[in-house]
Amino acid sequence: MTGLADVFGRVGLRPVEYTGGTLPAISPIDGTEIGRLHETPVESVQTVVERARQAFIKWREVPAPRRGELVRLWGEELRAAKVDIGYIISVEVGKIIEEGLGEVQEAIDMADLAVGQSRQLFGRTIASERPGHRIMEQYHPLGPVVIITAFNFPVAVFAWNAALALVCGDPVIFKPSDKATLSGLAVFRSLERAMARFGADAPEGLAQIVIGRRDQGVALVESHDVPLVSATGSTAMGRDIGTRVAARFGKRILELGGNNAMIVTPEADLDMAQRAILFGAVGTAGQRCTSLRRLIVHRSVKDQLLESVTAAYKSIKIGNPILPGTLMGPLIDENAFNMLDRAIARATGEGGTVLTGGDRVLTDHLPGGFYVSPCIIDMPRQTSGMREETFAPLLYVLTYDGPVDEAIELQNDVPQGLSSCIFSRNMLEVERFVSVSGSDCGMANVNIGPNGAEIGGAFGGEKETGGDRESGSDAWKQYMRRTTNTINFSTALPLAQGINFGS
Ligand code: UN1
Repeated sequence: MTGLADVFGRVGLRPVEYTGGTLPAISPIDGTEIGRLHETPVESVQTVVERARQAFIKWREVPAPRRGELVRLWGEELRAAKVDIGYIISVEVGKIIEEGLGEVQEAIDMADLAVGQSRQLFGRTIASERPGHRIMEQYHPLGPVVIITAFNFPVAVFAWNAALALVCGDPVIFKPSDKATLSGLAVFRSLERAMARFGADAPEGLAQIVIGRRDQGVALVESHDVPLVSATGSTAMGRDIGTRVAARFGKRILELGGNNAMIVTPEADLDMAQRAILFGAVGTAGQRCTSLRRLIVHRSVKDQLLESVTAAYKSIKIGNPILPGTLMGPLIDENAFNMLDRAIARATGEGGTVLTGGDRVLTDHLPGGFYVSPCIIDMPRQTSGMREETFAPLLYVLTYDGPVDEAIELQNDVPQGLSSCIFSRNMLEVERFVSVSGSDCGMANVNIGPNGAEIGGAFGGEKETGGDRESGSDAWKQYMRRTTNTINFSTALPLAQGINFGS
């Protein structure tokens, strides 16, 4: 990885920042240490929050469209740094370059959306039951927002939250995953450059980054001066954060585990399904929360589909993600590999048959990286192992015989509810899938895979996925507080519900 120091320099990272610290940054490509970050002392987390609180008092007074101008400038900075930030993501997280760039593009798209949103922070006007009265809603800035992101989307998920929070009038405190701190710092620097260009209207402390591990995260989450915590990660992490935030009556946005399925009916375009399976289950080495984990296929098309899918799996180029042509990079670390290994052993113990993959590869070539051949396991039924999310390229196959309802039931019968999809050209099946008795997930797609969502829709899921939504649609409302104002412009004081109180 020659030239990495140059790339770091171009995105605004100074060697003193990424050397000599206590938090190692390890590239999953070959296991080399590419940095040693300086952790934010846990004792100073409260100072960070206090700075954000002070910034809030000023930022909330800046008109929203003007706040949007900051995010517009951020979008420009992201565009200028796209290639370098994409490269850093690829080196630090192991995504192929194409996906690293895609992630930065997602952040740019989000900035564009938020700029428009900055002129659309509207409430409703509601008819009052009383003469000479009017009811209206206003959305006001909320306060400092803590953004805790996972290793797999260090840039895009920060942008989902920060772009909206900033236009909504909220300072942001960013705590990137300890496995993706360099990518986090790189995107944070781009925001700092935008703030510098924006000028004095951006108060000191408007955007801050906290580097560290769990302890720093806990200190942020427990701070009473943080009205909203947005966290992405595992269900276990979300349960912990959610409980802590609830204990102090804070608000939260949780985007947790998925166990995303694809239903392939007898009326599917199998070629399209096969391509979506490949991107869904193998893309990002299965390390998206939206990755495809379960394939629910009708028996009548199973053999044909699996034949083309397994053939495609075998032709996947696995290797160094920064090299052109690679389609699948490494897992994030040894722990991820061990989890995959255990999940495969559990599945075979539960009666599953490995159809392809599941082996560690490239051990002579890149011995410090954890590369695996993507795995498909044919399962006799939906077992308890399948109900857990394994963050790796592991695809379980379930077979159904009956109508599409049978497949939908299997799909919904897991604790998670993030994303889902159906491949079918039959309108009755498709409509059933998106209907009230269809998929119970936050995202239910038709003839496209479960992953790779655009930012315009609301992103998130039900059940153990957390129940919240991010990015597009009306997700912005969560970063604001709603007030209901009843305005009396008459000279009388009528009471609601017709109450006569002593007059
Ligand atoms: C994640 O994995 O946490 O829909 C986010 C997708 C991306 C976002 C994934 N747009 O796959």
